[in-house]
Amino acid sequence: MYFLALETSCDETAAAVFTEEPTILANVVASQIDIHRRFGGVVPEVAARAHQQRLLPVLDEALARANVRLPEIGCIAVHNTPGLVGALLVGVSAAKMLAVALEVPLIAVNHIESHIYAARLAAGRDIFPCIGLVVSGGHTVLFHCKDALDFEWLGGTLDDAAGEAFDKVASILGLGFPGGPAVERAAARGNPKAFAFPRSFIHEDRLEFSFSGLKTAVLYAVHGQDLSKIGQPARDLSAERRADLAASFQQAAVDVLTAKCRQALRRTGLKRLAVGGGVAANQALRGALERMAAQESAELFIPPLQLCTDNAAMAAQAVEKWRRQEFSPLDLDAVPAYQSGTAMGKRSRPR
Ligand code: KG4
Ligand code: ZN
Repeated sequence: MYFLALETSCDETAAAVFTEEPTILANVVASQIDIHRRFGGVVPEVAARAHQQRLLPVLDEALARANVRLPEIGCIAVHNTPGLVGALLVGVSAAKMLAVALEVPLIAVNHIESHIYAARLAAGRDIFPCIGLVVSGGHTVLFHCKDALDFEWLGGTLDDAAGEAFDKVASILGLGFPGGPAVERAAARGNPKAFAFPRSFIHEDRLEFSFSGLKTAVLYAVHGQDLSKIGQPARDLSAERRADLAASFQQAAVDVLTAKCRQALRRTGLKRLAVGGGVAANQALRGALERMAAQESAELFIPPLQLCTDNAAMAAQAVEKWRRQEFSPLDLDAVPAYQSGTAMGKRSRPR
């Protein structure tokens, strides 16, 4: 049984082929980073147009690498939420068309939950129940993952997502786009204790995050109180000070993410932690989570880098839905905001 999955929620056009084990046969990602770099961020209309141009070649490439022909596909999976609506629509429309043409079931998958499922996919064995942390450009969320399809929302960010904070700090420091890897590179040469940046809620018994104060603290550390300079690239920063700022920012973000995972493990009594999303590619975060998990006698599941950032293989959560015959209707919509269970038509999370 072969599944074909599509991902177009933001700025990666991706297609994957996997089996019902699930085993990945092909995982093709076409990044749009070079298109968006000159704008300093993802431009939604440009992303949607690029998806239209790239989706069919990416899909063909995935089939070729898997050595599977289109008529052999038995199920189509697609991320239909959350994301940029125009971008999502490209994948959702193509998935519906393929399901109709091949006369096979369509299964919608939640992109955020897929980031956790990537850890299950990489582990090659059951990891549920577990705590799930998603740290991406758009989301920072802790889940109690009761099984492969039942994710309870424990808490999220009240303002910026962790990846968004990395991207904004990169912009403040003049490190370019995308910000996460650039901040990590600069931080490697800096002193993480050089600046005492805020760590929101770190000692509070609540599973929520806030990164906007941290970002603003970096802004003031760079420009002082001179608001007229805000928005300008930090040209007069020495390389050493830039590295210290990056390292101190990264340490503050890592400390908060690690502390909240520890709290979530203790609160639920669970001994497994799965982490996904682009920021999970960060080596400082991976190291800190490894140390914390060892102290808590918990198992840590973090997928390899290519499964942390956006891809279509992580939509293999569709296999679990397929086993339970949870198919999606052909009038499936693209849903930009995160809602738990959207794809399955379940109740949305309480606000
Ligand atoms: O999961 P993802 O690929 O896309 C979304 O669904 O948002 O995450 C992208 C985010 C970006 O904000 C990017 O700067 C961040 O992940 N990121 C990193 C690293 N690599 C990517 N953040 C910190 N360190 C990294 N090495
Ligand atoms: Zn993502």
